[in-house]
Amino acid sequence: MKVIACYSFKGGVGKTSTAINMAWFAADSGQRTLLIDLDPQGASTYCFRIKSKKQDWSDQFFSNHKTLVKHIKGSDFDNLDLVPAQLSFRQFDIALSDMKKADKRLRRLLRSLRPYYDCIILDCPPSISLLSENVFNAADMVLVPVIPNALSERPLYQLYDFFDSKDIPVKRIMPFFSMVQAQKRVHIDAMQRIKANRPKMLKSRIPFSSDVEKMSEYRAPIAEFAASKPVFSHYNNLWSEVRQKLKV
Ligand SMILES: Nc1ncnc2c1ncn2[C@@H]1O[C@H](COP(=O)(O)OP(=O)(O)O)[C@@H](O)[C@H]1O
Ligand SMILES: [Mg+2]
Repeated sequence: MKVIACYSFKGGVGKTSTAINMAWFAADSGQRTLLIDLDPQGASTYCFRIKSKKQDWSDQFFSNHKTLVKHIKGSDFDNLDLVPAQLSFRQFDIALSDMKKADKRLRRLLRSLRPYYDCIILDCPPSISLLSENVFNAADMVLVPVIPNALSERPLYQLYDFFDSKDIPVKRIMPFFSMVQAQKRVHIDAMQRIKANRPKMLKSRIPFSSDVEKMSEYRAPIAEFAASKPVFSHYNNLWSEVRQKLKV
């Protein structure tokens, strides 16, 4: 079982769009896939047309896997299940702070799902918190969308420093360029600069595309309504690269 986190501590960079499409590709390739929506905004929950229970269960989320299993919902797609988010997930850090080994609770929880899933995708909120530390400790790969400009570049370097400070292997961090507008000088310059600093950028890039924005209108992954469009191939390339790196 592999755990892929879609993470950045910047908001609006493409985490949710990536999580939804990576989950679709994983499931389509026959892997038993679980998308866990950790973001209280619940954007991937919404895009998969799934409703969350009204009852607040954030204080039990990390306590045992039976509770988590109870909250798993099926999706409209074969091999693809989802744990829907709810607003109360904003309290995760409070729940975690009282626990022993508070930075490794998620890792423990996800390990117990090994018999049921081949691939777990985490759609993360834009923060660098105790929950994020749990994500970094649980993930085999931390996929980081980076819009090629200076304001996205800085948090990426801060993330490497944070991993170093916590002794978490930096090789888990897999950044890729997101919302690329290749005609913009500022994007071209930033991509050159970032690649020179961090050679570990993935080769695949996701261009800026209105089809990605339409995912929230159609409430579906790209494959459902734009499989013939270039952006579908870009996400497919990203998935192939992720798969190759993780050997799945
Ligand atoms: N490649 C893209 N091209 C155009 N718009 C995009 C792209 N990726 C994401 N978006 C749009 O940008 C906004 C933020 O994307 P989202 O995936 O929700 O990011 P995050 O989860 O990091 O906040 C959404 O409105 C989404 O539709
Ligand atoms: Mg999001």
